[in-house]
Order: sequence, then structure tokens, then C-alpha cells
Amino acid sequence: MRSLDEFATAKLGELERNSLRRVLVDTTRVKGLWLLRNGRRLLSFSCNDYLNLTHHPAVTEAAVEALRIHGVGAGASRFVTGNHPLYAELEGRLARLKDTQAACVFGSGYLANLGIIPALVGPRDLILIDELAHACLWAGARLSRAEVIAYRHADVGHVEALLPKLRRRHERVLIATDGVFSMDGDIAPLHELAALAHQHDAWLMSDDAHGLGVVGGGRGSSFVRSTKADVPVQMGTLSKALGAYGGYVCGSAALVDLIRNRARTVIYSTGLPPAIVAAASAALAVIEREPRLAALPLAKAKAFARSAGLKEPASPIVPVLLGESEAALAASRMLEQHGFLVVAIRPPTVPPGTARLRLTFTAQHPDDEIERLARLVRERIIASAATTASRAR
Ligand SMILES: Cc1ncc(COP(=O)(O)O)c(C=O)c1O
Repeated sequence: MRSLDEFATAKLGELERNSLRRVLVDTTRVKGLWLLRNGRRLLSFSCNDYLNLTHHPAVTEAAVEALRIHGVGAGASRFVTGNHPLYAELEGRLARLKDTQAACVFGSGYLANLGIIPALVGPRDLILIDELAHACLWAGARLSRAEVIAYRHADVGHVEALLPKLRRRHERVLIATDGVFSMDGDIAPLHELAALAHQHDAWLMSDDAHGLGVVGGGRGSSFVRSTKADVPVQMGTLSKALGAYGGYVCGSAALVDLIRNRARTVIYSTGLPPAIVAAASAALAVIEREPRLAALPLAKAKAFARSAGLKEPASPIVPVLLGESEAALAASRMLEQHGFLVVAIRPPTVPPGTARLRLTFTAQHPDDEIERLARLVRERIIASAATTASRAR
């Protein structure tokens, strides 16, 4: 259709002019940390494979064995014939790690949020959501048709001010936040939000995609402080620290059973490939067996931040804020010249004017390479951003 192609071409031109056009680049991962891209070998600081489990022998062997026994695809929804026995093992392990009664696995983290939120709240209800929550929490919130109000990032006072005003007008209230924020790496004030939720009979939900395996001794953001945060709906993904694929929710037996019965993304979507479920289970077993592994990515991120002169991070995600998209792209290109892959993150993934480099650290990143990267970031990126800012004043 001519009008369709004209529409697409005009939109793409607009993205191009604003340095916001995205292109897919062929990338071959070599043993997880290293990549082949554009004919070059690069050390990646952009993967979420925090524990390097994508290539762990116990994980890949579990996948291969499951593939031989169960075949490639699940063949149908979990509620038809797709519920191979590997699911029960994985859900048991997730619930045990998160100290909940039950867990339910989804096709992905994105699908989990699209399924969970509309299963719990609807048009007569309210969702208070952190303004920097991940796109799929927002998508689930909008899909529910509840009233959605954003509160200022991690601002407990804002939630405290909104709840008394709004609570009575709605039947149910859900407070939704990332546990570890995906683009900033900070941790949500879960204890304080849980106390407010109790006070106002609201339900707290965390998206712990970047918490599982790397903070709170590997158990996630609810376990970072000395007492566990009371978060009745803990959602996450199997695709980051576990190195596999899929999403999950952990909670009480009643909550999880309701979600299984009501979440359309579980009911009307094919089950995960058995090999992936087996891999995620094996990855959880590694985390259970080697509790010290979970501390390494954060320790590496802290060493980097100290050396680069950045604020101490709370998770293995370290943002270097640069402002405009072009500045972030230029910094990323410069690092690539030195053998590092650090992808530039631009709007709409982050708010306008906050384009950045987002670095993620993994258990196996070599210390000397971290030091070399920190020096480049300090001398070639932060110093020049400061000069540009002072010239502009
Ligand atoms: C905070 C957060 N939630 C959810 C997701 C989606 O998870 P998945 O990749 O399993 O769909 C991501 C991944 O990008 C994420 O960063």
C-alpha cells in the first residue's frame, strides 16, 4: 500500500532526524562476555547475563537433555498439553528462593506484566506506578483499564500524599514499581511502600527483572535489607541473571492460582520450550549452590564506579547520564573503538534529555578491563561532558 509505505518512511525520517532511529546489528556472543559485531571482537558491558549463566555448562547441558527428551516446542498452551513436568520443578524453585507459597511461569517478563496486572485490577480500580517503571509494567497497567497515576520516581512522600486523596474513590489499588530500576540501577523503597500499602489496603507489586540473582543474596530486591520487604506480588524474568527466557510471578497460593486462571498471557499463549524451562531451573540450582556468585556483579560495578568517579551503585547497573542522544551515541562509538560494547540508551526508553550509557557488570568481567573502561569513561566521557556543560553556562 502506497499510503502505508509513505507513512512508514515519514516516521522513520523523523526518528532519523532526532537521532532516535534504531537498527539491529548482527551480534554473536562468544562465551557470554565477548561479542563479535561488525567484524570486531568486543567486551560487552550491555548484557543482562549478570551471572554468565547463558553459557554455564550445567545450564546448557540441562537444556540439551530436555530438548532430547521433550522436543523443541511445548506444542500448546500450558492449559492444553504444554504443561511439561519441568514447569513444576522450576516454579517450586522460584517460590523457595522468593520465600513465597507459589509461583507461576509466563512466556516472558513482558507477557507476565501484561497478564498479571489486568488479572488483578480493572476499570473501577487505581494503579499508582513509579514514573520510571519499565515499559511492560506501564503496558500492563494501561491494558487493565484501571485509572493509572504516575508518582515521582521512588518518592514515598508522593505516594503517601496521593493515597488518602484517591483510595476511597476506587475499589482496589495496586502500587507498581520496579524492584531494581532497569535504566538507573537504584532500588525501590519497598519497605516504605509496603507500609503505605498496608495502611491503605493497597497491593504492592514489584518487577524484579534486575534483582533476581544479583541483589539480596540473589533472592532479589525484597531481600536487600535485614528484614524482608512485604511484597505480595513479586514478578520477574528468567532472561537476565538466570540466562534463560520466560517470566514469573511469586506470591501466595491463592494469588498464583487466580493469576493462572485469569492471566490471558498464560492461558492463550503456548508454553515455553521445555529446554528453556530446564535451563532456568538449572540456573536457579547454580544460584542455590553458589551463593557467593550473586555478590560478584555488584562488587564489580562498585569497583568501576569508584574508579570512574561515579556514585556508588546499588545494583550491577551503572548509568552515565549524558543528556542528548547524540552525546550518548558518540560516547558509545568511542568506547567501541577501544574494544568495549556499551550501548547508548535514548528516549523513549529513558525520559527526554537523559540519554545515557548504561553499563551492566557481570560476575566474570576481568578487573583489568573494568579499570581500563573506567579510565576511558572518566577521562574521555565525564571530563568532556563537564567541559561542554561549563561552556554552555
Ligand atoms: C524491569 C524489566 N521488566 C521486565 C522486562 C521484560 O522481561 P523479558 O525480557 O523477560 O520480557 C525487562 C526486560 O527488558 C525489564 O528490564
